[in-house]
Amino acid sequence: MGMIETAPAQTGGPSDFVTRVPLPPPRLDALSRDILALKRKLNAVLLAHNYQVPEIQDVADYVGDSLGLSQQAAKTKAEVIVFCGVHFMAETAKILNPGKLVILPDRDAGCSLEESCPAPKLQAMQEANPNFYTVTYINCSAEVKALSDVICTSGNAVKIVRASPPDRDLLFVPDENLGAWVMEQTGRKMTLWHGSCYAHVEFTHAGVMRIRREFPDAPLLAHPECTRGVRLLADEVCSTEKMVDYCKKSPAPAILIATEAGMIHRLRKECPGKQFIPVPIEHCRCNECKYMKLNTLEKLYDCMARLSPRVELSREIIERARRPIERMLEISSQPLANAG
Ligand code: 13P
Ligand code: SF4
Repeated sequence: MGMIETAPAQTGGPSDFVTRVPLPPPRLDALSRDILALKRKLNAVLLAHNYQVPEIQDVADYVGDSLGLSQQAAKTKAEVIVFCGVHFMAETAKILNPGKLVILPDRDAGCSLEESCPAPKLQAMQEANPNFYTVTYINCSAEVKALSDVICTSGNAVKIVRASPPDRDLLFVPDENLGAWVMEQTGRKMTLWHGSCYAHVEFTHAGVMRIRREFPDAPLLAHPECTRGVRLLADEVCSTEKMVDYCKKSPAPAILIATEAGMIHRLRKECPGKQFIPVPIEHCRCNECKYMKLNTLEKLYDCMARLSPRVELSREIIERARRPIERMLEISSQPLANAG
């Protein structure tokens, strides 16, 4: 599949929905053109995470991090949401839009963090300490969201924790690396769930040191799901969307990136002329999330043609999971001193 390009993101439209203007049809490949035609026919919006393969990013209406994707899902006027990311992200869109059809290219696009945190285990932990206030990273199931007090993403976790009630014991689930980083940033003690992103923990201190010998002047951006050894070497620890902002503003001609490889496509597209170097993984160059990469352009077309697989959730779970997500969106939109 040849790589296609799109014009840069634009703001506009009746709901101020951030959209990308695709290249004129003659410059798109045939399958991408079919997807765009189907999108118009369905009155669908196509949301894609920064880790999606380039050809999916290039037909999306919005490409961003988990926070941006939830904000877009919360305000879309489209009838069908086509979610190119992993399952918990599509579930979040459904929770925010119970009346809309939410479809995704591959139902098996999971997440190691989601797997690490089964709802009954979390419930047992909460019952053992009724003073727990549960701050939950969005990378979890709808059932776990329903047990949470507030949701956060890597883009707003510091702000969410700063806004959490001071008289409660904070339980942070399920990413212990993000949780540890938030504790370092806020000074707020938290009990951490033992979960991690199987892909981000593959980046190592030694791997960064080795690539730094080749690019001694390049700043390092690391996702907070990386381990402390890597975070300590980073010039900036941030969400995938904040990486784009950093790279746009940075005068550095070359930047080292410690996150999933899909990020590089977006950075190259939006920061032309700069060099982005993926931090290599010690034993391979497999810095790809196997779940994110289950989605292909072919599966995307098929899911739109069949309107399946679709996200289905019980009314009860939607109602309970919606409150902590809305709390997050509300806190996220407030200006807060020293916000992260
Ligand atoms: P972002 O919200 O920073 O894009 O992170 C999502 C994710 O799954 C990281 O592995
Ligand atoms: Fe989950 Fe890690 Fe994949 Fe993100 S990169 S979806 S945290 S497994």
